[in-house]
Amino acid sequence: MIYLVTGGSRGIGAEIVRQAVQEGHDVAFTYLGSTQKAAAVEKECAKLNGDVKCKAYRMDVRDSAEVEKVGEQIIEEFDDVQVVVNNAAINRDNLAVSMTDEQWHDVLATNLHGPFYVCRFFLTGMLINRFGRIINISSVSAGGASGQSNYAAAKSGIEGLTKSLAKEYGPKGITANVVIPGFFDTEMTQEHMTDKFREFWSAYCPIRRIGDVSEIAGVVTFLASEKANYINGAMISVTGGLDHAA
Ligand SMILES: NC(=O)c1ccc[n+]([C@@H]2O[C@H](COP(=O)([O-])OP(=O)(O)OC[C@H]3O[C@@H](n4cnc5c(N)ncnc54)[C@H](OP(=O)(O)O)[C@@H]3O)[C@@H](O)[C@H]2O)c1
Repeated sequence: MIYLVTGGSRGIGAEIVRQAVQEGHDVAFTYLGSTQKAAAVEKECAKLNGDVKCKAYRMDVRDSAEVEKVGEQIIEEFDDVQVVVNNAAINRDNLAVSMTDEQWHDVLATNLHGPFYVCRFFLTGMLINRFGRIINISSVSAGGASGQSNYAAAKSGIEGLTKSLAKEYGPKGITANVVIPGFFDTEMTQEHMTDKFREFWSAYCPIRRIGDVSEIAGVVTFLASEKANYINGAMISVTGGLDHAA
């Protein structure tokens, strides 16, 4: 199959790219500013499986015109995209009372508008082929998290978007599902999560540890596979059993 993964230059997205390549799929992935990291993922993937194509594209998901332009380029170079993984996201944490317009808009634009633009663009090809797999990455914070009203609003939004797509396009052979990560060690969490939150997670998570990125990528790989043909509109928690944030 042919995958499109947004935000594949690092963290969870890079692992989704690596697993897809190892499973024998062609992968186009995107990044925003991490040109060198994206090139390193490309190089690593060429070593992991020389028989598949894996290429990075700079694409700002906040910009619908850019999504369409780069999307056209990907289709030209890869042919049809069957699996879309909306993984790219940011956080700009602040208490609601102090949150700036910029913090609010940046998070909504990246984490909600972006996935919508990407789904809208790639749905056309999926509809023609009457096949597609949309996998959107939400967060445990969608349920509400102090200091993350912008992020929680965007992630709740992606859940509603996905459930709607599942209903609109299920009859056309296209499934749409959400994967809900709990807490994983990536640059996102290193930069913005407090030590207190790490302690909270390790103490209260029934599995008593932070997750490994391969444990999220494995679920994405499963949802993209034939084994998941009858799963549509599902919200799959990969949280070790702790389904609420601090
Ligand atoms: N880590 C966790 O514990 C955790 C928990 C819950 C949910 N999640 C979700 O899991 C997903 C991956 O998170 P992560 O921790 O791997 O994040 P990360 O390490 O911060 O990586 C974020 C990725 O998104 C890309 N990106 C950011 N803004 C973009 C934009 N405007 N256009 C295109 N790409 C953009 C980044 O590209 P550059 O490298 O070029 O900047 C990077 O590849 C996100 O949806 C996140 O909300 C993560």
